[in-house]
Amino acid sequence: MRTKHLLAGNWKMNLGPTHARSYAAQLKEAIQPLSKTDVWVAPATISAAVVAEELKGTALQVGAQNVHWADSGAFTGETSPLFLKDIGATFTLTGHSERRQFFGETSETTAQRTQAALKAGLEVIVCIGEMESERTSGLTKRVLEEQLQPVLAGLSADTATKVILAYEPVWAIGTGKVASITDIQETHQHIQKVWASHNLPGTAVILYGGSINPTNFAEILALEEVHGALVGGASIKLDQWLELIAIAERTGV
Ligand code: PGA
Repeated sequence: MRTKHLLAGNWKMNLGPTHARSYAAQLKEAIQPLSKTDVWVAPATISAAVVAEELKGTALQVGAQNVHWADSGAFTGETSPLFLKDIGATFTLTGHSERRQFFGETSETTAQRTQAALKAGLEVIVCIGEMESERTSGLTKRVLEEQLQPVLAGLSADTATKVILAYEPVWAIGTGKVASITDIQETHQHIQKVWASHNLPGTAVILYGGSINPTNFAEILALEEVHGALVGGASIKLDQWLELIAIAERTGV
């Protein structure tokens, strides 16, 4: 059970090493001490080491956008969880919808990646979410259950405490469209039911993601079903990111 909100920034394929370092330096300079919010950033893999170096000694944590299931070997283009540990990363995303949509990742490979990251001692933000056509056909719950099944089936009481779920409706990512308050509440409640049905301890930590910005964030974060946010676009604009952090800090837990 987290005692603070979690605000995680997914930089996607933006900010190469030079820009990422300077962005991290500005963030470190501008950020105020926080008591109610954990702030995590997930740079592109090639930028993660310089960002980790820049943010070393601060409360800001650095992670990756994806991870492979093997520790090493013939897996061209992939990143070992041990390499992430090596640079000081503390977490990784898995199952982001862009990985599923454009790179053929499945719920099974998401589960494998999640397992490997947990074994290496990383925390994992597992991303799930339905496509617009699935929502309009009334399939949202079933899709989320299918996405969660292999991931949750592999968790123990211990590793479950290192897993965070991010509900990101695919149609809300980068589109400016946000799920309605009722949809977010109902969907997060359903995800909790799925969590409980796997006999996992406590309750799931669930972030919302999809077009979060300083205008819509306070209302969403105020929901008791929402424990934080996974933010793309607004996390690489320093003024917006700082505003989101300030809102999370004001909203409290
Ligand atoms: P967005 O992306 O905030 O730009 O919609 C969220 C995400 O993909 O994690």
